[in-house]
Amino acid sequence: MADWGLSNRLARMMSPHSGNTVMLAVDHGYFMGPTRRLENARATIAPLLPHADALALTRGILRSSVPSGSTVPIVLRVSGGATILKEDLSDEAITVSMRDAVRLNASAVAMSIFVGAPHEHDSLVNLSKLVNDGEEVGVPVMAITAVGKELEKRDQRYLALACRVAVEHGAHLVKTYYCDGFEKVVEACPVPIVVAGGPKLDSDRAVLELAHAAIKQGAHGIDMGRNVWQSDHPVAMLKGLRAVVHDKATAAEALDLLNGEKARAPTLAPA
Ligand code: R5P
Repeated sequence: MADWGLSNRLARMMSPHSGNTVMLAVDHGYFMGPTRRLENARATIAPLLPHADALALTRGILRSSVPSGSTVPIVLRVSGGATILKEDLSDEAITVSMRDAVRLNASAVAMSIFVGAPHEHDSLVNLSKLVNDGEEVGVPVMAITAVGKELEKRDQRYLALACRVAVEHGAHLVKTYYCDGFEKVVEACPVPIVVAGGPKLDSDRAVLELAHAAIKQGAHGIDMGRNVWQSDHPVAMLKGLRAVVHDKATAAEALDLLNGEKARAPTLAPA
């Protein structure tokens, strides 16, 4: 059984109402550089912060672009060392000490694991060590089942294997992708799963349907980035996603809500 501090940090990210979480992922720059609509991270984050249950990002963007008065729980990315300019994205190390994570009042730390990739071994050993360090000070670890540039890897067999491997190495929370047969991924993963959105989808409906299917099949929430802040109406999108994740809204109901919000909000300039 986890210690009180670790359990409390996990609980702070989950809504007491639904038991789920809507995390906002803004950590993309650590390997992608100034991603579209995240060029000015402070400006992107500010209007979304009040609608997020947790914020997933690096220490650089946290210190530079988030007010220290914010009460939103922080999921601190602590792995890095590779960029999209190189072929192999799996060559990551732990880049932030647990001491710095505690100094930053992180509610959790997060790192990518690269199952089946050239640096699989390093990433799994790094995960185990991070869990050792996190357990010492009561900080939970979220493992991210990264696929690098191989987006086609995101099928049920692969994701079930990667999530289970993450749990076996001690992860307290897993972030993965939604896939056909997702309930089998959930069934084999005895810790909460949150789902990423991946590259921007074709429509608002598709984003809400993805979230709805994931929640229905057992996800404990979402940790989405591009499908929120690359939307022309990011606050409306986040409100629609909250309805799905927390209030059991169908995708159609959430779309109605989103469209109502859109009508009230100014559209972002095309980027
Ligand atoms: C990878 O850069 C990060 O783990 C992202 O936080 C993750 O992929 C979620 O963001 P998105 O919904 O844009 O895929």
